[in-house]
Amino acid sequence: MKSSLIETLEGQFEVPLSRMRRIRGAVTKEMDAGLAGRKSSIAMLPAYCDAASGRERGRYLALDLGGTNFRVMLVELPGSGKPPRVIAEAKYRLTPGQITGSGAVLFGAIAGYLGKFLKDHEITSEIALGYTFSFPVQLLGIDEGILMKWTKDFSASGVVGRKVVAIQRQALAGKKVRCVNIVALANDTVGTLQAQAVLDPDCGMGVILGTGFNIAVRVASRRIRKETGAYRGKSMIINMETGNFNKVLPRNHYDRRVDRDSGNVAHQFAEKMIAGKYLPQLVRLVVRDLIRKERFFEGHVPTVFVERDAFKGWHMDVFEAGSRKAVQELSQDLFGRQLDPAERRMMARVCRMVSRRSARIAASLILGALTRVECRSKKRVTVAVDGSLFEKYPGYSRVLAAAIRELAGPAGKGIRLKLTKDGSGIGAAVIAAVVTESGDMRTAS
Ligand code: BGC
Repeated sequence: MKSSLIETLEGQFEVPLSRMRRIRGAVTKEMDAGLAGRKSSIAMLPAYCDAASGRERGRYLALDLGGTNFRVMLVELPGSGKPPRVIAEAKYRLTPGQITGSGAVLFGAIAGYLGKFLKDHEITSEIALGYTFSFPVQLLGIDEGILMKWTKDFSASGVVGRKVVAIQRQALAGKKVRCVNIVALANDTVGTLQAQAVLDPDCGMGVILGTGFNIAVRVASRRIRKETGAYRGKSMIINMETGNFNKVLPRNHYDRRVDRDSGNVAHQFAEKMIAGKYLPQLVRLVVRDLIRKERFFEGHVPTVFVERDAFKGWHMDVFEAGSRKAVQELSQDLFGRQLDPAERRMMARVCRMVSRRSARIAASLILGALTRVECRSKKRVTVAVDGSLFEKYPGYSRVLAAAIRELAGPAGKGIRLKLTKDGSGIGAAVIAAVVTESGDMRTAS
């Protein structure tokens, strides 16, 4: 019997156990190459800090830049393994002009918002700040690093290849924001790991499953063959930049289209199959094919599927798992009419095959990465996860956990996935505390 187009597509988006095994194996190999400084699609960037002990104390600022929203937080670390407390927080939305204009505009905007936060909260005496900067950065030490490339459609000019903290400091001076001292620069995955490590000594990994995708791992220093300067700790956290992994992935025609339409062609292949920024784009392309070839939607392309970014992640949530009422309300909004049952089923199937594939590939990468994690316990490891896909997408964390159990077998029992909300920001404060307390890993900048 000839299968329908949707069945063929579901086959193309399936990730069988055999493929998951191959991905896991390839990840381990790429990690080893990255740690040795050899050519690899996984950069394995040293974070110049080890997992926090939980004894970190004090009040710190955190600046969290990783998507169109960026956050400023004032965080209190009580020490003695108690949970950090967010005393104040503000979210600001960056405009497309700020993200894709010049570096001076982007960092100037951030400085301006930070100045406003300090004013609003009457912070006038000097305070240490941890900066979460969630892009591939080659750190020179704990408080400075060079941006290797932009991802997630950021493209501010004049920043790639330059020192990020120096540019930010200059922008702060330009806006007369004086009482802030940037003492640490970290990736959001590293922050997430740290935010959980404060509470849980078994935490060996931080994962972001949100707009972007990436993993950080705690690795024994003896495994790190490339240059790590004056760092002397027994273990170090490594920002893997796993989103760029590009081996044995089951990429199809739609993945190639998403790549071609992206702001960073031929980069971030795993991220483009996994992360929340790209999943709706995949759905959009698949639905457009169904419209063209099977006269789905009566053969007309609704405007929401015309532009690249009009169809959103939260729309997928609703079509995949929303109540009938929620689906009809959204359909009325997006398409100007309600969907018939066959159309509703089709939308749900497309969203499910795309989100499910994301979770199964993410599981394979997480298990690949775990092979090199330095755990405090032989039996257990905690994987700290933050990001909207994991936190909010219906059923995502369940499919991810099931895929991990399927691939890991009995060893999967010791793996605990732990939602670490706001980990990226809180973690930056934790790293700022580690640095302020030890003061020994700074670069001369
Ligand atoms: C960036 C990573 C980041 C991830 C999650 C990716 O696009 O390259 O540095 O950790 O997004 O925010």
